[in-house]
Amino acid sequence: MRTKIVAGNWKMNKNLDETEALLSELSAKLPDTHAEVIVAPTFLNLVAAQTSLQSSAIKVAAQNMHFAESGAYTGEISADMLLNIEVDTVIIGHSERRSLFGETDDLLAKKTKTALDKGMTVIFCFGEELEDRKSGNHFAVVESQLKNALFDLDNSAWNNIVLAYEPVWAIGTGETASPEQAQEMHAFIRKTIAEAYSTSIAEEVSILYGGSVKPSNAVEIFSKPDVDGGLIGGASLKADDFTAIIKAI
Ligand code: G3H
Repeated sequence: MRTKIVAGNWKMNKNLDETEALLSELSAKLPDTHAEVIVAPTFLNLVAAQTSLQSSAIKVAAQNMHFAESGAYTGEISADMLLNIEVDTVIIGHSERRSLFGETDDLLAKKTKTALDKGMTVIFCFGEELEDRKSGNHFAVVESQLKNALFDLDNSAWNNIVLAYEPVWAIGTGETASPEQAQEMHAFIRKTIAEAYSTSIAEEVSILYGGSVKPSNAVEIFSKPDVDGGLIGGASLKADDFTAIIKAI
C-alpha cells in the first residue's frame, strides 16, 4: 500500500504573519485523513511553521536546497541547516527552479544525492513543457528527466523518494491534465522505474500529480490508480481549498 500524500508548495507567498495565520487555520480545519499532509513555506518561515505545527500531524518541507555541505554559496541553504531545524523533506527540481533559475538534470542529481545521503526525503518534480506534449515527445522528456537525475541512485534510495509529475503547461494556468492523461503518465513512470530498477520499487514509490489541482477536480484525479496524491500550488494557500483537496484523497 503506497503512502498517499497531499503537499502544499507555497512558493514565494505568505509572510510570517500570514504563515502563522494559515497554519493555525489549517490545523483547526484539518480533516481526518490517511494521507500524509505536507506544507512547504519559504525558507524564512520554516522555523515558525515548525513551531506552529508542533502538535499537528502536518509536516513541513523546504522548497529547495543546495547540494554542498557548506561554504561560499551566497544566498543558499544546506541540507544540514534544514535538518538542524528538523525539516527532513525537500522539494527538488520544481519546474520553476528549472526554467527560471537554470537548474539542470545534473544539478538536480547532485541535490538529490546530497539530500538522500543526509537521510532526507526528496519530493522530486519533473514534467514536460507544452511543446513536448504537442509534439508527442512528453514520454521521452519525462523518461530522460528521471534517468538523468535519479537512475544512478541505489535501490535503497527509493525508500526516501516521492515523485511529483507536474506537466509545466498545467502549473498555475488553470488548465489541468485530464485524469486520464495523469494516469497514463503515472503508469508510464512506474513502468520506466520497473525497467530500470524493479517492479517492487516501482510499485512502492508514491507518485503525486501537480498542476492546477483544486477542490473541483481533485476527487477525479486522485481516483486514478497510479496517482498517489498531489503537489498543490495556488490552492494550498487557502485553508478551505487545501482541506477540501485533502478530503478528496
Ligand atoms: O508545486 C506546485 C505546482 O507547481 C502546481 O501549482 O497548483 O498552482 O498549478 P498550481
